[in-house]
Amino acid sequence: MNTVALNVAPGMIPANERVFESECLVKSNIPVNNDYRLLVLDAPAEILDCTPGQFFHIQCPVRGGHQPYLRRPMSIYGYFPEKGELQFLYKIAGEGTAALAELVPGENLNVVGPLGQGFDIREDWDNLLLLARGVGLATLAPLALEAQRRGKKLTAICSARSPQLLMSIDYFRDLGADVMTVTDSEGTSDLAHLRTLIEQLIADQRVDAFYTCGSNRLLKLLQDIGAAHDIPGQIALEQQMACGLGMCQCCVRSFRAEGGIVHKRVCKEGPVFELQEAMGW
Ligand code: FES
Repeated sequence: MNTVALNVAPGMIPANERVFESECLVKSNIPVNNDYRLLVLDAPAEILDCTPGQFFHIQCPVRGGHQPYLRRPMSIYGYFPEKGELQFLYKIAGEGTAALAELVPGENLNVVGPLGQGFDIREDWDNLLLLARGVGLATLAPLALEAQRRGKKLTAICSARSPQLLMSIDYFRDLGADVMTVTDSEGTSDLAHLRTLIEQLIADQRVDAFYTCGSNRLLKLLQDIGAAHDIPGQIALEQQMACGLGMCQCCVRSFRAEGGIVHKRVCKEGPVFELQEAMGW
């Protein structure tokens, strides 16, 4: 395992100010259902000083003599300094992730990170509501662990196309979260039903802050409910990236600010943003 600290120009340095490039050994790389795989890496302590919501930039391996030119940004599913493990949950979506799926234990994977600004759990937020769908649940998994570590009460509403595709349910339950599941196949994942569920939780005083990831329709729903009930929240955005370090500007998106619309780099100022400043896509 080979790890070097990257010399990133001042002003380009992500939140934790320590970015590393590391060759990590693959411990396992297994399917968790028909769509998603779990990759577990043997990782050095330096790169495991992470915040939930941060990401790593992964150099997908060479397969068939071809190496994808750009790294792939991948949110952290789990980081465990005590056992030296870094975990990613991913879906095969193209050439890079298809090559990733072929990695076997004992091979090396080059990663850069941890990168970006992660989630914030404010002291006065005692009751956290996590709402996500599909692989968005992977991004919220380390947040759930951190919330439990800080003694916060957690409710997780997990959405998927079908019950078989619900992910991280046991993980959230093991952390003491109250887990509610909604699926398309059962007809429970529509916005009207979600709104009813969430507004009941608010009426029961079980929501001080929202956390979500990746879904435009869930973002809009939470912005709407948050504005009506004065409840803050945060969202982790997904975005295509090139450098991942704040230099190339290819990940810039528009955000609401007091003076109007501003532009921010998802890799540097994000990927986590305040719920109400994020704009739909
Ligand atoms: Fe290069 Fe964000 S990916 S600035």
